[in-house]
Parts: sequence; structure tokens; C-alpha cells
Amino acid sequence: MKRLFYIDCCLRNGSKTKRIADALIERLSERYEVETIRLSDYDFPVVKDDILNERSNGFVPDEYVHIARKIAAADRLVISAPFWDMSFPSALKVFLENMSLFNVTFASSEKECYGLCKAEKVLYITTRGMNIKTGDVLEQATPYIKAISKLWGLGELHVIAAENMDYSTAEQVEEKIQNAIKEGETLCDAF
Ligand SMILES: Cc1cc2nc3c(=O)[nH]c(=O)nc-3n(C[C@H](O)[C@H](O)[C@H](O)COP(=O)(O)O)c2cc1C
Repeated sequence: MKRLFYIDCCLRNGSKTKRIADALIERLSERYEVETIRLSDYDFPVVKDDILNERSNGFVPDEYVHIARKIAAADRLVISAPFWDMSFPSALKVFLENMSLFNVTFASSEKECYGLCKAEKVLYITTRGMNIKTGDVLEQATPYIKAISKLWGLGELHVIAAENMDYSTAEQVEEKIQNAIKEGETLCDAF
């Protein structure tokens, strides 16, 4: 069975993003062996001088190398994260920085960086409080995920998003979640 690595950055109890993601991961687990990292269970450190010095001396914690290798080897990558401060939560950025490891997720020639990750497809699942669509200039999560995908050599990015969640009635929110699941399931069957 092919392997899928799932980065769950749903940080709130009762997360709406997680409801969509849970349904889609269940669907994908019919075809993929899924490994999940739940970022709310971790406190990845901010990358600064101490970590950079350790890296320069060839040291990276085994646990981080182990996770980064799994990301690099996965056939598919899924990220779920709510829309926070016009992007995704910093927990995800910090995690990605800790996984951005030379000779694991990316490498470099004399001229440029290139990716070492195998996944040809990436799925990003989100919900947004405001009525901001994927690709809007105010939506700064997707551009970053595309950019890190380029660095790491990840393939095509697909996005499942529900918007205006904070300005909709409970019934409308439920309908948006169900619609996102339906759209996502169709996408997942070809993912
Ligand atoms: C800390 C925080 C920051 C947020 N920032 C934004 C924002 O900048 N733009 C926006 O549209 N919604 C923002 N929201 C609203 C969330 O995107 C929205 O409620 C989303 O559906 C929450 O997803 P969740 O239920 O999975 O946590 C923010 C919510 C929180 C808790």
C-alpha cells in the first residue's frame, strides 16, 4: 500500500477544519497507509541560533530526522490547518522549518536548491472565518505551501477550503462543512 503523511495542524477543540479533514483522511485511508503527526501534541522549537549552530555541527535530533525522512518518502502529503491571521498557524511554520533539513527534504547543487520529497500530490484542507477565497491576495497560506512544495520537490497542490465560517449561521456552517467533504471525497478518489 502506498504511504500518505498527514500533518494535522487543527489546534482547537471542536475544529471545523478537523471535521473536514477527518472525513477526507478516512476516505484516503482506504487507499493509503496513513501516518499522522498531530502538531497540538508537540512543541517544536523556534529555529534560531542554537539550532542553527547544532545543524552546522552536523547535529539534528534523531526524532526530527526520522519525521522528515517519512515526509520525504511519502507518496502523498496532506496538511490540515485553519486560517489564522491571513495564513496558517505558526505551529505549522515552525514544524516545516524543523523539517526543512538539508539532504533529507531538500538538497542543493552549486547553483540552486532542489527537493528530495517523493509525493507527487499535496492536499491542503482549511476553513476561513472571513469570506476569503483560495488564491485571494489576502490568502497567504496557499502561496507559502506552494513555495515550500517547490523547495522540497513536492508535486501538485490541491486545496479544499470552506470560507465565511465566522459570519454564517450554524446551519450554513454545517452545509459548508458537508459541501467541502463532498468536494474533497471526489478529489480524494483521484488523489
Ligand atoms: C487565532 C485566530 C486567528 C484567526 N485569524 C483569522 C484571519 O486572519 N482571517 C480569517 O478569515 N479568519 C481568521 N480566524 C477565524 C478562523 O479562520 C475560522 O474560525 C476557522 O473556521 C477556524 O477553524 P477551526 O474551527 O478548524 O479552528 C482566526 C481564528 C483564530 C482562532
